[in-house]
Amino acid sequence: MVRRATETGSYDNRKADGMQTTPRRVTIQQLRQMKERGEKIAVLTAYDATFGRLLDEAGADVLLVGDSLGMVVQGHDTTLPVTLEEMAYHCRAVVRGVRRAHVVGDMPFGSYQVSVEQGVANAVRLIKEGACHSVKLEGGAVHAELVARLVGAGIPVMGHIGLTPQSYHQLGGFKVQGRDAGGRERLLADARALADAGAYAVVLEAIPADIAREISAAIAVPTIGIGAGVGCDGQVLVSYDMLGMDETFKPRFVRRFATLGTTIKAAVGQYVAEVRAGSFPSDAESFAVSETRAPQAAEPGLYSTSAAKK
Ligand code: KIV
Repeated sequence: MVRRATETGSYDNRKADGMQTTPRRVTIQQLRQMKERGEKIAVLTAYDATFGRLLDEAGADVLLVGDSLGMVVQGHDTTLPVTLEEMAYHCRAVVRGVRRAHVVGDMPFGSYQVSVEQGVANAVRLIKEGACHSVKLEGGAVHAELVARLVGAGIPVMGHIGLTPQSYHQLGGFKVQGRDAGGRERLLADARALADAGAYAVVLEAIPADIAREISAAIAVPTIGIGAGVGCDGQVLVSYDMLGMDETFKPRFVRRFATLGTTIKAAVGQYVAEVRAGSFPSDAESFAVSETRAPQAAEPGLYSTSAAKK
C-alpha cells in the first residue's frame, strides 16, 4: 500500500500493484454534507468481521457496533450486561472486515455514567482497543459536557436520545418516548444540547415521526432514526432484525428485507439430512493420497479467502 496526497490535499490508499483503488473511508464531514445535500444516510448494526464485510460491500455508510449485541448475539434480555471489553472485541472484529463504512462503537452501560473523567477514559479505550472511528452514547443534555470533552480530545461522538435502552428500568421497558406532556420540548432540547456540544450525529429512537422531523430540521448535524419515521436524515436498524434472523421478533418499526432465519434453518436441515444419509461429503469434496488433477501454480491455501488476499 502507498499513501499519496490527492488534489484535494487528503490522502487515499491505493495498492501499489496496478493502482487498484481502495474505497475511501466515509468521514463524519461527508455525513454532514449528505444531510446538507438531502442524501439519506444508511446505517446498520454489525458485530463481526463477516457481517461487517457484507454490509460494507452492500453500501452501508455507517456500521454501528451496537450494544444491542447483548441481546442478539449474547442472548440477554437487555443491553445492560455488556462490558467495555466485549464492545472493544466486537469493534475490532467489525473494523477488520470493513473498508469503506464509518464504524461507530457503542459505549456500554456503566462505562460513562459515573463521571466525565470515566467517560473520557473509556471512550479513549474503545477507540484504542476497538479501533472504531467514533463512539456513541445514550442521553441528551445530561451528557453534553462529556460530549464536548470527547470532541475536544479528538473523538467524534454520535448521540442517542428518545428510547435509550440502557435506561430500560428507568423508562419502565422498551416504549415509545416523547408522547407525554413536554416530551417534544425535552427531546428538542436534548438534540440541541448534543449538537451544540459537538456531536456529529444523533440517533432518534422510537419517537413520534413529526417530532423527529422537527428535530431534524432544527439541528445542523444528521439525525439517524430507528422507529422515528422517514423525516430523519438517515435510518438505522439492527441488522439481525432487518435480515429476519428471528422469525418471532417483528416490532412495527422493523421492515424485514430478508427471512434469513428461515433460510438458515432450511440449509442446516438439508445439511443434517445429507450427513445422516452419507451423501455429504462426496468424492469431489474429499482428498485422495495422489490427486489426478495437476496442481495449479498459484493455488491458494485451503482456507484462503478473497478477503484474506486483499
Ligand atoms: O445498540 C444498538 O444497536 C443501537 C441502535 C439500535 C441505534 O443503539
